[in-house]
Amino acid sequence: MTAATSHPVRHYLQFSDFTADEYAYVFKRAAIIKQKFKAYEKHQPLTDRTMAMIFEKASTRTRVSFETGMYQLGGSVVHLTTGDSQLGRAEPIEDSARVISRMVDIVMIRTFGQDKIELFAEHSRVPVINGLTNEFHPCQILADIFTFIEHRGSIKGKTVAWVGDGNNMANTWLQASEILGFKVHLSTPSGYEVDQSVAGIRSTDSYKVFKDPMEACRGADLVTTDVWTSMGFEAENEARRAAFADWCVDTEMMGVAHTDALFMHCLPAHRGEEVQADVIDGPQSVVWDEAENRLHAQKALMEFLLLGKL
Ligand code: CP
Ligand code: NVA
Repeated sequence: MTAATSHPVRHYLQFSDFTADEYAYVFKRAAIIKQKFKAYEKHQPLTDRTMAMIFEKASTRTRVSFETGMYQLGGSVVHLTTGDSQLGRAEPIEDSARVISRMVDIVMIRTFGQDKIELFAEHSRVPVINGLTNEFHPCQILADIFTFIEHRGSIKGKTVAWVGDGNNMANTWLQASEILGFKVHLSTPSGYEVDQSVAGIRSTDSYKVFKDPMEACRGADLVTTDVWTSMGFEAENEARRAAFADWCVDTEMMGVAHTDALFMHCLPAHRGEEVQADVIDGPQSVVWDEAENRLHAQKALMEFLLLGKL
């Protein structure tokens, strides 16, 4: 059951790990799995499979969605944190990966540097999923694009405005734009720009940089933002509050976007900082669907990584 898979192990460490065709399949499965969930129809293709969830940073959505998702698929989970495992006592990542992956069928990790999850995956016998690193948050963008498709159809050819920090979410949106064929309008305060090499994208073709966040939002089909200070960067909080003051998504910004533009935020949100309450709690906001869709999209992801195309 564990580890001795008959097909090569696939990991999901960044958005670019899947092709556009594979995304089309995963989104289709997510819709089917969601429909079954809503109808209280059992869907348990992962009976007797176990997931290890390793959290080195805090989480609400990622933990609840992966944990309930795995149970709903018929499997079970083991929850580890830095503080209550040998991970926090300097056991080498390679050794942890070798041991954990002999006992479970799939691993989800939320950690700091992308290099840590890459190293773990290199020594893992089973699929490893990135549940957020400093550089990427692919599961969130998977759910976000699934949410966009549900509300507006294909994202191909559309424009996504990113207002705020050039962080893990921004990097992942850029990767997604290259793979799925949409455009990102990026507006970040100076000093907080996206670094294309960190984002891991090939060219500048799929994004455009704007000094003024209003200009980034003009004509956009989706406006999205995130906290000014990501986990692990708390020491920069004061400097960031000053630098980001003009990067609050407000009704004026939504007003210059496309008339049926959506607003998304991966959450947790700080009303009055990166987003005005009238926007996140307003009619264009789909943040609750976006949060719920973590569950359905990740169930499709786990099914795909463990069973391939059904
Ligand atoms: N959006 C997201 O990943 O939320 P959590 O930090 O609560 O998991
Ligand atoms: N960019 C944020 C996302 C939280 C889900 C962080 O890394 O803290």
